[in-house]
Amino acid sequence: MALVTFSNPDYKDKTVYAVAGSHTETLLKLAKENKVPVQFDCQDGECGHCVVKVSSVDKKGPMGYHLTEKEQNVLKELGKLTQEQIDKLHLDDMPSEWRLACQMIVRDEDILVEY
Ligand code: FES
Repeated sequence: MALVTFSNPDYKDKTVYAVAGSHTETLLKLAKENKVPVQFDCQDGECGHCVVKVSSVDKKGPMGYHLTEKEQNVLKELGKLTQEQIDKLHLDDMPSEWRLACQMIVRDEDILVEY
């Protein structure tokens, strides 16, 4: 189980439980199930509408998320990631704080999602 807190200046924070490790539960799906108004359109990692900022709450170390090629390209187009940062992500094997909610699979850790 992971606790996911959705935060937006226009809404009250909402913390929900996520079943981790199912490898099918995306952050967007979780948001929709819990009526959190995260924006979306294509739901296929193409349009960039669902971009969110994700940070680890329990700080147990780096988050085990890896960006797909598609996600990297969209985040780059949105100006959220530079090529330099992408190269660094690969080098350090570090996750990005910017993610596409429709592409990110929820893992077993508590996170804060700003949308
Ligand atoms: S909804 Fe289009 S990229 Fe996620």
